[in-house]
Amino acid sequence: MDKGKSEKITFKVQRYNPEEDGGPHFQEFVVPSSRGMTVLDGLIYIKENIDSTLAFRTSCRMAICGSCGILVNNYPHLACHTQIEEFNSSRLTIKPLPNHQIIKDLVVDLNPLFETHKAIKPYILRDDGKEMENPTAEFAQSSQALEAFLQFTYCIKCGICISACPTSASDKLFTGPQALAQCYRYCADNRDEGDLERFPVVDTEHGVWHCHLAGACSEACPKGLDPALAIQLLKRRMVSRAVGLGKKEPPAQTLPPLTETKPKIPFPDFTVGENKQATSEG
Ligand code: FES
Repeated sequence: MDKGKSEKITFKVQRYNPEEDGGPHFQEFVVPSSRGMTVLDGLIYIKENIDSTLAFRTSCRMAICGSCGILVNNYPHLACHTQIEEFNSSRLTIKPLPNHQIIKDLVVDLNPLFETHKAIKPYILRDDGKEMENPTAEFAQSSQALEAFLQFTYCIKCGICISACPTSASDKLFTGPQALAQCYRYCADNRDEGDLERFPVVDTEHGVWHCHLAGACSEACPKGLDPALAIQLLKRRMVSRAVGLGKKEPPAQTLPPLTETKPKIPFPDFTVGENKQATSEG
């Protein structure tokens, strides 16, 4: 696509209102597109200029909020992070993410994802409940300890990994790659001691053992996470705990409280210091 040159792109969009329609159908819209335009820009153009009833979800427009996951030419993308010219085609087929229930058009129900995410207790669990309830200081964590789980903290809960997962497609009750990867993320955090609270949530018929390691979640993740790796590491961690292997390190301890060691910096000459202020008032 030449810089500054506008081309006509046909958006073939799946429409479906479960309250009114018998089933999904497609509608075509012609969108003027120029270099740098994203698929989300195209959907916004349609909504503002052609059909205001088109439903899609968006918020941050910068690949952070996880709202705008859709299928473009049968592959999951964040609409705000995907430029039209990437497809090198004058036709794009847009559909909602599979393996999620459709609310309307391109909007899917992410509540099951949020509920499963909540179920794995996505926060630091400690045995020293007193420190958790009334924190006195930060927990110490080395950069190596952080590396063990850092990439998994970048999950934006867009649901794309679930839409790509063949197990999620065949088992509606599967915990899914998002929650399983987040389960590992918190268990692997050396400030955490919550393994035994989280394991029962994922050690079920529809849990971690049901992952067939297709790896589609990792390939599709728009943030470059590797949920398939996290799931295998979670399995290893659970087996190790079950057979009594693996060194159980003590959890990260709190740092000593910060004390004020910096000398007080005097007011520079060009500002109104206490004395100057007193003089001018006097
Ligand atoms: Fe937030 Fe796309 S609008 S991730």
